[in-house]
Amino acid sequence: MTTMEPVEIVPGIQWVGVLDPQLRVFDVVMRAEHGTTYNSYLVSGRDRIALVDANKGRYGREFVDIVRRAVDPARIDYLVLNHLEPDHSGAAAALLEAAPQARVVVTRPGKALLSQVLNRDVDPIVAADGDTLDLGGKTLRFLVAPYLHWPDTMFTYVPEDGALFPCDFLGAHYCDDRLFDDRVENYDYAFRYYFHVIMRPFKEHVRKGLAKLEGLPLNVVCPSHGPILRSSVDRCLARYREWSAEPPARDRKRLLVFYASAYGNTEKLAQAMVRGAEAAGAEAALFDLLGVDLHAILDDIELSNGIAVGSCTINGDALEHAWALLSSLATLKMKDKVGAAFGSYGWSGEGPKMLADRLRGLKLKVPEDPLRVQLVPTEADLAAAEEYGKRLAGAL
Ligand code: FEO
Repeated sequence: MTTMEPVEIVPGIQWVGVLDPQLRVFDVVMRAEHGTTYNSYLVSGRDRIALVDANKGRYGREFVDIVRRAVDPARIDYLVLNHLEPDHSGAAAALLEAAPQARVVVTRPGKALLSQVLNRDVDPIVAADGDTLDLGGKTLRFLVAPYLHWPDTMFTYVPEDGALFPCDFLGAHYCDDRLFDDRVENYDYAFRYYFHVIMRPFKEHVRKGLAKLEGLPLNVVCPSHGPILRSSVDRCLARYREWSAEPPARDRKRLLVFYASAYGNTEKLAQAMVRGAEAAGAEAALFDLLGVDLHAILDDIELSNGIAVGSCTINGDALEHAWALLSSLATLKMKDKVGAAFGSYGWSGEGPKMLADRLRGLKLKVPEDPLRVQLVPTEADLAAAEEYGKRLAGAL
């Protein structure tokens, strides 16, 4: 963790965050090769002062220290919590200890979470969509934007400066003490990865959030992780529009066949299955799970009509690559897609059965028993795999 002095963004708005350059795994599940930042912002009007977003609980002392270097906490009137996930609310308790007079501002779903975060009753201001607070020459306008990415989320907008505080939306896990998008190196990979992990499961809500910003002058966008946007606002919004767009309709049903193969036997079954599905008029694509970038194919999976997952069995289980694929499906709409499992095995062959159970657990339709072949598939086995592919195509 690294601390800095407050940084002015525009007159009356300061960054008061904490840098975490050493972080490599965020929230247990996300890679953060470049660390991250926990950005909070002080908005000072003539009459009142607001702090937008708190910080991670672990860095509560450093957070209060940087706020203190910008303003006497006793002068803070509002603590706006756009989102109650602990990386933006964990330090709220420490801040409120230093600023006991500050009223917390949250959405209605946020109110339900707030007492669990603070473990005490508070009396927050509950912001409805479009509500405003006048700070004197600066207005906080609250834009309720649920599921970006929790039910509680909202954006805060200051129209006088065209400044938007969207919390996780448009953020990235990327740490650079130069803070601004026109000063840091290219961090596109982190911006994209962040969208795909955090926002992608909520594409419909991303579209609604973007619609809410339509027509608002945006001079500066101040997310709660990563660089502050001032030169790339339009480009970043365009990328969110592109990544969250409604998928185009397809002419043909599409089956994706994934395999993890130790000796090429499961791969042969996968190839035969693709041949069969195509012969039956479906579009079929083959993916080797040992080389595939799961994040890059989530759209393809979501747009498909079914998936077949193949793995050989080692030590009584499917390979971890197959499990990684199935873990990545949790945030996709998989209900009513067709699922199937297959694989070659040495002597027990539990892997495909376990995969089929998991596919059912994910609410896919699994119309066929797993296709299993002991060791090297014969010509008859491959013909059976082709027939299996045809039947799957028919079920799509
Ligand atoms: Fe950065 Fe949803 O927390």
